[in-house]
Amino acid sequence: MAETTYKTPLLDELEKGAWPSFVKEIKMAAKRSPMANDLLGQLEQSYHEKIGHWKHGGIVGVMGYGGGVIGRYSDLPDKFPGISHFHTMRINQPAGWFYTSEALRKLCDIWERHGSGLTNMHGSTGDIVFLGTRTEQLEPIFEELAKIDFDIGGSGSDLRTPSCCNGMARCEWACYDTMKACYTLTQDFQDELHRPAFPYKFKFKFSGCPNDCVASIARADMSFIGTWRDDIQMDQAEVKKYVDTGLNIQQDVVEHCPGKCMEWNGKELSIENSYCVKCMHCINVMPKALRPGKDRGCMILIGSKAPIVEGAQLSSVLVPFMKMEPPYDELKDLIERIWDLWCEEGKNRERVGEFIQRVGLGNFLDAIGVEPIPEMVAHPRENPYVFYEEYFEEDSGDEEETES
Ligand code: HEM
Ligand code: HEM
Ligand code: SF4
Ligand code: SF4
Repeated sequence: MAETTYKTPLLDELEKGAWPSFVKEIKMAAKRSPMANDLLGQLEQSYHEKIGHWKHGGIVGVMGYGGGVIGRYSDLPDKFPGISHFHTMRINQPAGWFYTSEALRKLCDIWERHGSGLTNMHGSTGDIVFLGTRTEQLEPIFEELAKIDFDIGGSGSDLRTPSCCNGMARCEWACYDTMKACYTLTQDFQDELHRPAFPYKFKFKFSGCPNDCVASIARADMSFIGTWRDDIQMDQAEVKKYVDTGLNIQQDVVEHCPGKCMEWNGKELSIENSYCVKCMHCINVMPKALRPGKDRGCMILIGSKAPIVEGAQLSSVLVPFMKMEPPYDELKDLIERIWDLWCEEGKNRERVGEFIQRVGLGNFLDAIGVEPIPEMVAHPRENPYVFYEEYFEEDSGDEEETES
């Protein structure tokens, strides 16, 4: 295929303007790939008719795996034979998305030989996304990937490809080694990653600090956000330097502190650390003067999801602090208790966050053996998650309660 063979006036509109366009990329691929060429044709037709021409494909995959391949077929295969099959493959990205250029070339070569040549680096789920191949190409692609030490990621009702910020590799704020945690859990939970046996998807995302660069609080069923539990480290000499270079500490740091726990007397900055909510704001503003404490680990949150059945939900606190050190036994044990319960009791297509809403956080905690704590309360005194009955019972001893 030398040139694109379709007129695409509507798609061409999307190439105008300042931003890069996927249309330009598909046109480039179409010079070599009949699949990409037919994709242009079908997309243009969809834009004219305002209807999609893809149909979901039932189960396609590689032997021994159940996830990682998302089946698609064109419903106009006679008109666009190049995309009569157009399956997407999710490939497990390296932790922190670090590649050598050699690895990238090998990946692209595999995809040029066996697929449309179109990739998405990276999908919003984190994976390397290979867009468009035929069913009979899946095994050869898988075999070639294995030779260069790449594996397929997650899709369907399984553990989705875990993903992390590049943490200690590039970032001074990392409170634990996100890449190591992500890699270790990816390796240890291979079975859950490749063989869908959950009620629905389950995502881990690891951020090294509360800046949460992989947005784990919004995008992961279980979010691991680095934090510290001692005092913020402070260098008063550096604080002075910020003042000398014109930073308005009162206005730009102290007054933005959500914990209202900072004070600036014109000479010295002080922090009442017991009120600090570890938002990172002050540290981000004056990174030379302030840094996270030394006693570091991570906070574990649970339950975020985007709207499918019900509304969007952010993760809420499950464990306020856990040390994150290999071999992560305490963590793996907690994860397995959650999976056991959710797999047993969760409804089909019910995310763990929805499951918790249905059964109640109190019951959920009870079943996984985690004690309720104040950090779980989102809005004090209006939150139904903390129950006081047993404390009343303990207090009242043998006496009968007189007030209702
Ligand atoms: C046959 C047509 C479709 C194809 C080929 C397709 C393909 C894909 C692929 C490859 C992904 C993964 C993207 C990535 O990780 O980068 C994806 C994700 C997704 N798709 Fe589709 N899709 C199709 C139709 C739809 C439709 C009709 C909807 C909704 C009405 C939809 C909603 C979504 C959503 C919400 C995600 C999740 C985004 C994410 O988690 O990254 N898709 N789709
Ligand atoms: C500006 C608007 C939107 C943006 C930027 C956006 C972005 C995203 C991103 C980045 C993800 C991937 C999360 C991940 O890494 O797992 C995602 C997932 C998803 N989005 Fe959106 N989205 C938008 C609007 C919507 C709307 C309007 C819907 C539905 C009507 C929707 C449905 C979904 C669903 C179902 C998922 C899969 C979520 C999950 O795994 O829980 N999104 N979206
Ligand atoms: S989440 Fe924190 S540790 Fe990770 S890259 Fe962002 S700022 Fe750095
Ligand atoms: S991290 Fe946030 S809450 Fe803590 S002292 Fe700094 S600004 Fe205040």
